[in-house]
Order: sequence, then structure tokens, then C-alpha cells
Amino acid sequence: MTLLAHVIENPMPIEIPESVKVYSQFVHPALMWGLLALSIYALYLGVQIRRTRAAQGDAKKELLKGRFNVKHYQMGSILLALMVLGSIGGMVVTYINNGKLFVGSHLLAGLGMTGIIAVSASLSPFMQKGQDWARYTHIALNVGLLGLFSWQAVTGVQIVQRIISKM
Ligand code: HEM
Ligand code: HEM
Repeated sequence: MTLLAHVIENPMPIEIPESVKVYSQFVHPALMWGLLALSIYALYLGVQIRRTRAAQGDAKKELLKGRFNVKHYQMGSILLALMVLGSIGGMVVTYINNGKLFVGSHLLAGLGMTGIIAVSASLSPFMQKGQDWARYTHIALNVGLLGLFSWQAVTGVQIVQRIISKM
């Protein structure tokens, strides 16, 4: 191939060192396990929001001090950002190491989760206006999200084992 043809085909050849390629495969699994823990914490905070709303008198005053709604919104926002980045990151690293993506359950469930959390977060202004439809849609979406997350944890660990066995 002439030099010109090579440059046209591959205008910006990026050389990634082999060790970076290999070890980058562990960043996504570690991040996602952290996010699984964060999701369970978000669930706990969400349940506390509902308990606070239902409580009365002194019990309500005590629960209000927990500022669960504020904490939940903050944790939810962090979860949203890191899940979108983590999911894109998983695809980038898979592509760098294999030259392709694997259209299997981990990819499809991962893309599904990324869509679900975006819609779930987009309900925030409606929930804050006290709309029950938004609250129940938010809860239903997030139950689905947590279900898919447990699935991702299982298939993700299987992929990690395959990567280690090939090292
Ligand atoms: C694992 C993920 C999540 C779970 C399990 C979850 C669960 C819940 C639950 C149970 C509620 C209470 C609903 C009610 O008031 O009846 C709630 C409220 C809320 N969630 Fe989430 N949520 C998650 C993620 C998120 C995300 C990603 C965001 C936004 C970035 C978010 C923002 C909110 C807001 C703004 C409220 C209303 C709080 C208020 O009443 O002031 N949540 N969530
Ligand atoms: C919970 C633990 C998880 C583990 C241990 C895990 C592990 C992995 C591993 C090892 C890869 C392959 C990387 C490579 O080949 O270099 C991968 C790819 C991927 N992961 Fe995860 N993952 C987890 C959760 C998630 C979650 C929650 C999402 C999305 C929200 C996600 C989305 C993806 C996507 C889209 C890919 C690219 C798949 C492909 O094209 O084959 N993962 N994951």
C-alpha cells in the first residue's frame, strides 16, 4: 500500500500499548460493582423518602432531618452519569481488545439499562411536583434496572473469567 492510501484509510492511527489494552479491561467491572452498591444505597434512600412522606408528628420530624430526598437526588445523579460513562467505556474497551462488539445479553442488557436510567432520571421534575404517575413509573423502571443489574453482575463476572483464562 502506498503511504497516501494508508493515510486516507487510517488518518489517525492510534497505538495503544498492549499492557494498557489488557488492564483497561478491569476498570469497567470494578466501576460497575461500585455502582451496584450505589444503586442499593439509592434504593434505601428512595424507600426512606416514602417513609418520610407517610410518617406523622415527631416521627416525621425525625425522618425529615435525614434529608433523604436531597441525598437521593444527588446519589441518583452520580449514578446516572457514571452508568452512562461506564456503559460506553465497556463498549470502547471491548472494541479496542477485540476489534468488534459482541451482540450478546451483556451488551443488550447494558444498553437497555442505560436507556432506562435516563428515562427514570428525566422524571425528576415531575416527581418534585408531586405527580404520582411519575413516582410509580420511576419506581417500576428502577425495579427493572436493579433486576437487569443483577443479571449484568453475573454475565459480567463470566466475561472477566474468560478474559483471565486467556491471559
Ligand atoms: C437504583 C436507582 C433508583 C432507585 C431504586 C430509586 C428509587 C426511588 C424511590 C423509591 C423514590 C420515592 C418515590 C416516591 O416518592 O414515592 C424515588 C424518588 C425520587 N428519585 Fe429515585 N431512584 C433511583 C434513581 C434515581 C435517579 C437516577 C434519579 C435522578 C437523577 C432519581 C431522582 C429521584 C427524585 C428527584 C425523586 C423524588 C424525590 C422527592 O420526592 O423529592 N432517582 N426514587
Ligand atoms: C456488575 C458488574 C459488571 C461486570 C463484572 C462487567 C464486566 C464486563 C466485562 C469484563 C466486559 C468486557 C470488556 C472487554 O471485553 O474488554 C464488559 C463489557 C460491557 N459491559 Fe459490563 N460488566 C458489569 C456491569 C455492566 C453494566 C451495569 C452495564 C451497563 C449499564 C454494562 C455494560 C457493558 C457493555 C455495553 C459492554 C460491551 C459489551 C460488548 O460489546 O460485548 N456492564 N462488561
